[in-house]
Amino acid sequence: MLVLGIETTCDETAAAVVERQADGSGRILSNIVRSQIAEHARFGGVVPEIAARAHVDVLDRLVASAMKEAGVGYAELSAVAAAAGPGLIGGVIVGLTTAKAIAMVHDTPLIAVNHLEAHALTPRLTCALAFPYCLFLASGGHTQIVAVTGVGQYVRLGTTVDDAIGEAFDKVAKMLALPYPGGPEVERAAAGGDPARFALPRPMLGRADANFSLSGLKTAVRNEVSRLMPLEAQDVRDLCASFQAAVLESTADRLSVGVRLFRERFGAPRALVAAGGVAANQAIRSALQDVAAKAETTLIIPPPALCTDNGAMIAWAGAERLALGLTDTMDAPPRARWLLDANASAPAGYANTRAGF
Ligand code: KG4
Ligand code: ZN
Repeated sequence: MLVLGIETTCDETAAAVVERQADGSGRILSNIVRSQIAEHARFGGVVPEIAARAHVDVLDRLVASAMKEAGVGYAELSAVAAAAGPGLIGGVIVGLTTAKAIAMVHDTPLIAVNHLEAHALTPRLTCALAFPYCLFLASGGHTQIVAVTGVGQYVRLGTTVDDAIGEAFDKVAKMLALPYPGGPEVERAAAGGDPARFALPRPMLGRADANFSLSGLKTAVRNEVSRLMPLEAQDVRDLCASFQAAVLESTADRLSVGVRLFRERFGAPRALVAAGGVAANQAIRSALQDVAAKAETTLIIPPPALCTDNGAMIAWAGAERLALGLTDTMDAPPRARWLLDANASAPAGYANTRAGF
């Protein structure tokens, strides 16, 4: 099975060709990602309209390159998959419409993939992981703990009630005049800082549910910044270290509750899987390692290029769905919001917040 995958939900334009064998194993034949970071950097965050236009500018050539690098002709494709959401709607429309055009012209099945499902299924491509497993997805747009029990079978165990973790890193970086994207910058600065200098809150610590909250912590950082202005270089390092320490403690607590909830409902997970850009953070990785060890399970973090947004994960999710006969029609809609767990509702008291419920 050969599947072309297209990703355009945020600020990466990506196309890839993946092969799935009958035994369920996978192989990446090409995986090309073009980041738009340079276009957005001076605004300190992703600008949706700029993102959509940048996807339009490069996607057709990127798809052609991915096909060429894979050495595959359109007639050989078993399907074309695109991330149909959730994400910035302009970008999603670009990717999905391109996939529909390819599917129509080459008379190939279309698969409209949920971007979160693609993150969730990636460890089955990289290390043939069997179900069920517990996914911790932490990126600029999403923070979720999900029980993955089968293709198309996801139960959300926890989510953020406000900001995503990566988003909080980016906003803290912006307050401290560090460049975008802020996560790596904050991590670097934190290495030279004192994590105990500022007594920042540990959001949601000790709660019985597995939800996250980042906005109070972010406000606490903002208050310290206003109090200290003008900031010395060491203030920036200490604020980064104190912020990161608070995120770590809160994340470890929320995840250990998440894994406990998993165990109660689905038995022992085969692994704890981390995905999303935040999983690149070394301090967070070692916190996750501790959570996994305490929960007597293995931590799996796919290689960085497959943890962050890419086309191979979309192609792979498409292949997994195709293997089950799950294809879509030409009226598949682009979706700004798309719950992975159709039964999940907003956490009590947070019905109107904007997080990716
Ligand atoms: O998964 P990703 O590449 O893109 C999406 O958001 O979809 O994640 C990017 C996010 C950004 O918010 C970035 O600041 C954060 O991941 N990030 C990090 C680190 N590297 C990237 N956050 C904390 N520490 C890092 N080292
Ligand atoms: Zn993503």
